[in-house]
Amino acid sequence: MKVLVVGGAGYIGGHTGYELVRAGHDVVVLDNLSTGNLHNVHPDARFYWGDIRNKTDITRVLTAEAADGQPVDVAMHFAAKLIVPESVSQPLAYYENNVEGLRTMLEALVDCGVRNVVFSSTAAVYGEPASGICREDDPTVPINPYGETKLACEKMIRWVAEAHGLNYCIFRYFNVAGADASLEIGLDKDQLTHLVPLVMQAALGLREKLFIFGDDYDTPDGTCVRDYIHITDLAQAHVLGAEYITSGQGSLLVNLGSGSGYSVKEVVEAAEALAHIPCEYAPRRPGDPARLTADISRARQLLGWQPKLDLATILKSDLDFRRKLNGA
Ligand code: UFG
Repeated sequence: MKVLVVGGAGYIGGHTGYELVRAGHDVVVLDNLSTGNLHNVHPDARFYWGDIRNKTDITRVLTAEAADGQPVDVAMHFAAKLIVPESVSQPLAYYENNVEGLRTMLEALVDCGVRNVVFSSTAAVYGEPASGICREDDPTVPINPYGETKLACEKMIRWVAEAHGLNYCIFRYFNVAGADASLEIGLDKDQLTHLVPLVMQAALGLREKLFIFGDDYDTPDGTCVRDYIHITDLAQAHVLGAEYITSGQGSLLVNLGSGSGYSVKEVVEAAEALAHIPCEYAPRRPGDPARLTADISRARQLLGWQPKLDLATILKSDLDFRRKLNGA
């Protein structure tokens, strides 16, 4: 397959590019490098600079890539803003980047005859599920602008697919973390907000301490429960998803998580096996639901996919990557 990875210089797009190349696919990356880094693009992939909100940037790539008689088979969308508290304070930026960006990309795909789309959605579309376990058919009631924009995107894709005969694979990610086993790539942003890299920065003395946001949630230990999935397991699911929709089996909407929930406190305790984590309790963070854990039976059944890497491996790989990044 020839795969266009939009946002392929970012953390998730970069790892997916690596897995696509490893599976023998031809990878084309489009990225504006606003938060991504060229270093995340696999050396065998072709890179184009461009902005998802600019249709000509996308059509230029699709046209150039069709010139050899082998047009792009499937486009993957990773070029989104994804920080829950930032979405609460800057909702318009999220609507512009996430919703308008996808609309522009879909218009370019339809114009250029690309019929397969893989889209990164999120567990945040479920909102605050009563049981804490999320199944794909559960109600979608987001409690923050990030989740709202991703839900709007999912709906847009389904309507456009119906009107223009596209196949889609929508993945609802849970909490993605860890680094590629080669340690060539990992989460290397300056402004980190996610739990696992912040825990490891505290472990390495790169920050004074970790703040645990809220200890009075309706969970067994009072801290939020999340489902942590290794980036490599997640990236490999994208290869399977793209192969599924390009082989005429129809469209998909599936959760990608590990199927197990861990509280913030449990994550810190698991990390303590690797290094001491200085931490302190702090007030709740806006927009955080108490519990989100994935039911992953649909991904197992339809894609034959099974996450292989556990929380300990996630933590160790992030720690090793951060050591390498900082020469620590
Ligand atoms: N947390 C802390 N301290 C920190 C950072 C995070 O206690 O310094 C807590 C958060 O309050 C939350 C948990 O750790 O309870 C996980 O927070 P993250 O910021 O790592 O991740 P989120 O759960 O907010 O969001 C992530 C993705 C979303 C996705 C969501 C689904 O960014 O795209 O997981 O679970 F929707």
